[in-house]
Amino acid sequence: MTHARIPDLNGRYDLYGLIHKGLRKAQCELLARLGSADFDDAAATAPLLADLRTILMLGASHLAHEDRYIHQPLEARVRASTDRLEHQHDDHRLAFAELEDMIRAIEEAPLDARASLGRRLYIAFTVFVGHDLEHMHEEETVTAPQLWANFTDAELQGIEMAIIGSLTPEKNLAFMRLMIPAMSRSERAALLGGMKVSAPADAFAAVIEFAARPHLSREDFCDLSSRLGLAA
Ligand SMILES: [Fe+2]
Repeated sequence: MTHARIPDLNGRYDLYGLIHKGLRKAQCELLARLGSADFDDAAATAPLLADLRTILMLGASHLAHEDRYIHQPLEARVRASTDRLEHQHDDHRLAFAELEDMIRAIEEAPLDARASLGRRLYIAFTVFVGHDLEHMHEEETVTAPQLWANFTDAELQGIEMAIIGSLTPEKNLAFMRLMIPAMSRSERAALLGGMKVSAPADAFAAVIEFAARPHLSREDFCDLSSRLGLAA
């Protein structure tokens, strides 16, 4: 466990904050659902396993984005700056493969073996989440200051735009579904307010209808609507 000082943002561009909030929320909710699941009820656990697969897929995608769009340019300016993170990413990829094997084992197991396989999956996922929470902490306390010291905010925003530009519309919506409910009301209004003026109207409408409205409380969606001037 690292105990690095948690740096203030000081108005700098934060590449990690919102996506990490989304990943933390989604992973912790899944962890709780895995703990309370009756794995011998195949019909009831099918949506849970599907949601877990989605998070593993988005997690793998997130690692690939960081490798290509953050680590490569950072390495070009600060040699060996991402060695530890790369090792952690390799460990995560291994964990994703092992977790997928465990999911498949449950799906293919006879009914009387599912509960113990479910317990194995639950415990393995808790370990992965623990490692990922520490990994994200390192990125936000060690890597972020390195980025601020070596890149301008315009360059960091360019990195984020390149990541977003690499996403299919479906994957963009999937990430938005994670992130939008996980952030504060003011962060949500700032993110989606920026999207409202810069993204194509149909893409913005899809984010509102498929990522924001179904995944926010009535109160949070009303707050967003009034801040962005959306039609009711
Ligand atoms: Fe990472």
